[in-house]
Amino acid sequence: MGEASVALNAKELVLKSLKEKDGKFVSGEKLSAELKVTRAAVWKQIQALRKDGYTIESKPKLGYRLLGVPDVLFPWEIQAQRGRSLIGHSVHRFDELDSTMDKAEELAQAGGEEGLVVVAETQKRGKGRMGRMWLSPQGGVWLSIILRPKIHPRYAPILSLMAAVAVARAIWRVCHLEAKLKWPNDVLLEGRKVSGILTKINAETDLINYVIVGVGVNVNVNPASLDPRLREAATCLKDEAGREISRTTFVQVLLEEKEKLYRLFLRRDFTAILNAWKRLSDTLGRWVRVEFQGEAVEGEAVDLDGTGGLLLKLADGSLRQVLAGDVKVLRNR
Ligand code: BTN
Repeated sequence: MGEASVALNAKELVLKSLKEKDGKFVSGEKLSAELKVTRAAVWKQIQALRKDGYTIESKPKLGYRLLGVPDVLFPWEIQAQRGRSLIGHSVHRFDELDSTMDKAEELAQAGGEEGLVVVAETQKRGKGRMGRMWLSPQGGVWLSIILRPKIHPRYAPILSLMAAVAVARAIWRVCHLEAKLKWPNDVLLEGRKVSGILTKINAETDLINYVIVGVGVNVNVNPASLDPRLREAATCLKDEAGREISRTTFVQVLLEEKEKLYRLFLRRDFTAILNAWKRLSDTLGRWVRVEFQGEAVEGEAVDLDGTGGLLLKLADGSLRQVLAGDVKVLRNR
């Protein structure tokens, strides 16, 4: 497991030096002088990096050069960009977990600080909204973030909308694809779901203790190849972009976007977040059916309220606020 640290260990220092040389050779002697360790210690770290999947060429007289970086969500790769940030300063990575939600919650209860990220390469029991399961094979991004905003719990739903906006923005920055949002927080590409958000809140009557924001993104994994029932409904970034997407880059950008929005949230600029969501909405202006716990309501989705609830205009002209549920678009207006 990768622990938080801004102070780098020997392996990370060797990696940093190799990266700084931008694919050029650096001698073992220079590395050992720079890092104040023996040449044997440098060699040991080179071997450790190779074991992690880094491609490092070594040549007599020339030394070492970095030729390839594996697309593994190593804490040091993510933290390298996030050292002094609020979100992602500390990354706990696992090859496999039941669910990053459970691990993040366990860490939050043990005092895990705001911005701590739990990421897993695969999840055995990934959790979706409404008690559904979430397929989480290799190639996706499955992560949960601990947040501790000192804010009234009524505003917590905005954190889910915020997460969806951050995913859409990251998709634009990394893949140049225009994602749309389905209320409350599904991220769609060409009408198919590419990402889902799950939030779990732990609060007193009028104060949030912590919120776990879980984000699942089908990056290089095609959900339809695993579950034929998803063929029509789901997609992945790789298929939409027509190329493999670096998950490391995606996570770095995602955390950056999350942080920008979360800072607005902490300043209580909820309107800015809600407006950002509305601009990306695929739900507003449509005639929808919202189902929740066996009940259904139909109407035109006309707006969001101040805490992220969906406002429906029913057939009789009355307004109805919906706080949770599954949206199905029936027609445009
Ligand atoms: C949805 O149903 O749309 C929400 C899916 C949320 C999935 C993510 S993957 C990371 C985190 N861990 C989980 O078990 N679930 C969330």
